[in-house]
Amino acid sequence: MNHHANRIYLDYNATTPLAPEVAAAMRPYLFEGFGNPSSGHWAGRPAREAVEAARSKVAALLSCEASRIVFTSGGTEANNHAIKGVFFARRAASHPPHVIASRIEHPAVLEPCRFLQRLGAEVTLLPVDGTGLVDPDAVRHAIRPGTLLISIMHANNEVGTIEPIAEIAAIARERGVMFHTDAAQTVGKVPVDVGELSVDLVSVAGHKLYGPKGVGALYVREGVELEPLLHGAGHESGRRASTENVLGIVGLGAACEVAQRWIGDTSVKEHRDDFWGRLSDKLGDRAVLNGHPERRLPNTLNVSFRGLRGGDILARIPQIAASTGSACHTESAHPSPVLEAMGVPADVALGAIRFSLGRTTTRDEIDYVVEQLGQVLGA
Ligand SMILES: Cc1ncc(COP(=O)(O)O)c(C=O)c1O
Repeated sequence: MNHHANRIYLDYNATTPLAPEVAAAMRPYLFEGFGNPSSGHWAGRPAREAVEAARSKVAALLSCEASRIVFTSGGTEANNHAIKGVFFARRAASHPPHVIASRIEHPAVLEPCRFLQRLGAEVTLLPVDGTGLVDPDAVRHAIRPGTLLISIMHANNEVGTIEPIAEIAAIARERGVMFHTDAAQTVGKVPVDVGELSVDLVSVAGHKLYGPKGVGALYVREGVELEPLLHGAGHESGRRASTENVLGIVGLGAACEVAQRWIGDTSVKEHRDDFWGRLSDKLGDRAVLNGHPERRLPNTLNVSFRGLRGGDILARIPQIAASTGSACHTESAHPSPVLEAMGVPADVALGAIRFSLGRTTTRDEIDYVVEQLGQVLGA
């Protein structure tokens, strides 16, 4: 795909296009399926059925019961709901309330934590090692009597490092602390089984798994007390007021169904490894891999080009869509805070480009990108 004028998209961690099956599933809800799911008449009933069918599909991908899924407006809202929801439900029980997260969380976790700090919570941001891993022992040592919540992402969006979530969640469970994981980057790419991970709260973002933008989900384990973010009518069993985004929810359900077929597919990882192998052959130690060499999202390749600026390289190959750092900070001349937290020296961090591959990425596209990078770098 994207062979138009050699335009190549390698920014699938920023967002993905709709899978064709997703677009097809959504189409009727743009038109005749317009009813309000809360209406009991002929127009409302099919919309309710569609929302509930989608809930079952999201639940199937996460291996949980459908009733555990709350639909949200995206990954950001799911994170806000989890973090603020636990805080407002449980803060009275702890003096002062304390939250633990990692330094490499997405702003959609870091900023809600900062907000809670303004409300009197204490926040511990744990360091990571040079590969981006959080040490479960550091989590254990950070827990105190007032700790309400631990939030550690499943995989990092910039470097792709996959955190030891099951281990950390077991520690949280043992100490009676709620555990949330932002799985925006893993759902649809690697298996996410909420029971196996033994987590309390999991955030999902539709547009990262070939579903629509503006829709997501929060898994809430049975018995977890959460204050809603949106108070109003009783939608989502009182957990999130507002008439359901039927179109988006149907798309998210379809995306989760399609994703089941892709989990275990190895072609994306093969292309990614081939890409890195050829880049490092061409550039030697001028190209540095950022992130964990193995415990990493199968589609993600974050490379620093030593002595250069990632943004300058991308400016010379504008037909190739990739990013420096995350999509949120493309204009910035500062090193990525994620790479900084990993201890990557500033001059190396400034040379970083994140390539993130997708289901339709081809060998030809990788060949072309390697050749273009070689030209820019004079190799
Ligand atoms: C790890 C992570 N969390 C949260 C988000 C936010 O999701 P959304 O854009 O659906 O709000 C993103 C992507 O933008 C992400 O990569």
